[in-house]
Amino acid sequence: MKFQEIKNNVFYCGLNDSERKYFDELIPLENGTSYNSYFIKGSEKNALIDTTYPPKVKEYLNNLDKNNITKIDYIIANHGEQDHTGALPELIKKYPNAKIITNNICKNNIKEMLHIPENRIETIKNGDELSLGDKTLKFMLTPGVHWPDTMFSYLVEDNMLFTCDFLGAHYTFDNVFAKEDKKLEHCAKRYYAEIMMPFRTFCKKYVQLIKDLNPQMVLPSHGPIYKNPSFILNLYEDWSSDKGKNLVLIPYVSMYGSTLEMVNYISKKLNENNIHTQKFDIVNGDLGELATGLVDATTIILGSSMVLAGPHPMAMNAAYLVGVLCPKAKYTTFVGSYGWGGKLIEKLSEPFANLKLEVIEPVLVKGKPKQEDFDKLDELISKIIQKHKEEGF
Ligand code: FEO
Repeated sequence: MKFQEIKNNVFYCGLNDSERKYFDELIPLENGTSYNSYFIKGSEKNALIDTTYPPKVKEYLNNLDKNNITKIDYIIANHGEQDHTGALPELIKKYPNAKIITNNICKNNIKEMLHIPENRIETIKNGDELSLGDKTLKFMLTPGVHWPDTMFSYLVEDNMLFTCDFLGAHYTFDNVFAKEDKKLEHCAKRYYAEIMMPFRTFCKKYVQLIKDLNPQMVLPSHGPIYKNPSFILNLYEDWSSDKGKNLVLIPYVSMYGSTLEMVNYISKKLNENNIHTQKFDIVNGDLGELATGLVDATTIILGSSMVLAGPHPMAMNAAYLVGVLCPKAKYTTFVGSYGWGGKLIEKLSEPFANLKLEVIEPVLVKGKPKQEDFDKLDELISKIIQKHKEEGF
């Protein structure tokens, strides 16, 4: 728990969460996460920006007490999800004169999800300003990163931009300022993959908006504060670009080793042709690594054994995740092995339908692959090599 002045009466009042194991009960939190909140002391009015996650409310409120925060006039809700609005019900009791400031979509969300009374909320529109006396907050509606209700708050005089989830990272820290290293890049990329990748087009738009604004500091509501915003903006520019890398991602489930034999064969041959591969063991792997691989992959090969008359359920789970994360990949195919038959390829490809990927002819074998199966795999590999050459790799 921290209370630290960032700059000119702007304070960090968020907290680390090292105990939480998963975010969204989906992606393992290798390095925990933080719920950032900021207190701005103006010459006339005080404001809080974002709050905390429900299980952390008591700790959060104690921190405000410990630091003598007795007057809060405005609570800015940049986004309605409860990891940032969890303390609102308690805050409006503790500070009876405080108004929640947010946009109309977020207002409806917090009214319905947290039962916040309407008379405690004031709505703003894009470009509206709120005076704190010697400081001014300006609001920028940024729907799509990652909910329809998301917005940024810009502290005009100090040139500080509060971006809530956008440009965040699941990362805990002692120093609130970003250490621009590979560990932070890794955490920010895992976060982008799960939270922001489905909204790649919006990411590009808002990265440009921030570059044009040129803030001196970017202050997200997860992960560290960027004194050098170009570090994270350049990464987002790369991750959200339309161009993938010379990478084939191969998530697989193999019950008796036959599918794995095919996966290993494909991977080795592609590597021999200077194409990078990332194999991913769906059953034993960390879904964060699968999601991160999707950020860069140009081709996705999904491998599965057959269970009863369809794909292994864990492979279907991975296929669903790929489908909803909307990666930039252009090509896909499927490989698998069966005992007595069923609809493996048809079922596996269903969650991919919305991605509109070019499908390279899949290879399905009975039991262990035979020479004729390896011949088919060679055709599949040749097509991938050709496609990657066409991509300019
Ligand atoms: Fe960190 Fe969308 O909440």
